Amino acid sequence: MKDVKGKVAFITGAASGMGLGMARAFSEAGMKVMLSDIEEGPLQAQVADLKAKGRDVAGVRVDVTKKEDLDAAAKKTIETFGKAHVLCNNAGVGVGGKSETCDLRNWRWCIDVNLWGVVYGLQAFMPLIRSHGEEGHVMSTASMAGMYGVRNLGPYNAAKYAVVAIMETMMAENKNTNIGVSVLCPGAVATNIGSSTRNRQQEYGGSAVPSDLDITNDALAQGLHPDVVGKQVLEAILKNQPYIFTDPKMRKMVDSRFRKIMSGYDWADTCDSLRGAQQGSLQRK
Ligand SMILES: NC(=O)c1ccc[n+]([C@@H]2O[C@H](COP(=O)([O-])OP(=O)(O)OC[C@H]3O[C@@H](n4cnc5c(N)ncnc54)[C@H](O)[C@@H]3O)[C@@H](O)[C@H]2O)c1
Repeated sequence: MKDVKGKVAFITGAASGMGLGMARAFSEAGMKVMLSDIEEGPLQAQVADLKAKGRDVAGVRVDVTKKEDLDAAAKKTIETFGKAHVLCNNAGVGVGGKSETCDLRNWRWCIDVNLWGVVYGLQAFMPLIRSHGEEGHVMSTASMAGMYGVRNLGPYNAAKYAVVAIMETMMAENKNTNIGVSVLCPGAVATNIGSSTRNRQQEYGGSAVPSDLDITNDALAQGLHPDVVGKQVLEAILKNQPYIFTDPKMRKMVDSRFRKIMSGYDWADTCDSLRGAQQGSLQRK
């Protein structure tokens, strides 16, 4: 997008951390912002704080695991601001553990929030962004855990790889449109993700079931300030930057993963089973 002033953004997980950082940066740049979050108290407090600074913002409670909540939020965004231009699917929870032993309630909670939340956001808001013909942008928050397999984060990696896959697909699908597509892959950011169980719904065991996350808010406190990420996301929207990495030092993890993947091709070039075998290409209709 060349200009965001007066444009409308909808953000999930906006009562805390990076979502709040985005709401602050966007509204400071003159955007109208609909903040959403599962935590009603902090949501209303942050909306009031931004309004006191003269920002054009509103709030709506949304549990991203509920499609009907996103649909209602889309309706409220149009009623309040008239249009939608920017969607940030950002809400997420931190769940630790190995895929083979992770409590299944945690597995489902992780996938429902971190993956289905993105899908429901896209389905509710993309038709609105496409409907008016003006420039738009869609951004989803994945993680560096969507770029390489971080140990003891099996379900979280699965959800975040899927978010990267969805956004990469949308990049290809929207190449020749006026809708930009980005995926945010943060490193360590000083947020409240270490206490994600604070708002785990009863159907996933409530706040009592441990999330097995071995990362605490205290440890993350040394990380990047979430307001910096908010500003970076705004810059990425204005420059139509597809991949948003917050920690340049972590490129070596991605480098190392791609080197291992390429070594699989080196092996395929020489392996006995493929020698002389017929290869077809995948034909599209
Ligand atoms: N903090 C990090 O180091 C880090 C690193 C990589 C990726 N991430 C990702 O960043 C995103 C933002 O998290 P954060 O670090 O700012 O944490 P945070 O806990 O400070 O903020 C996340 C927000 O999402 C909300 N939320 C949780 N479940 C929800 C639900 N079902 N419906 C709606 N809202 C819900 C929370 O109430 C909270 O306000 C997440 O997707 C997370 O996975 C964080």
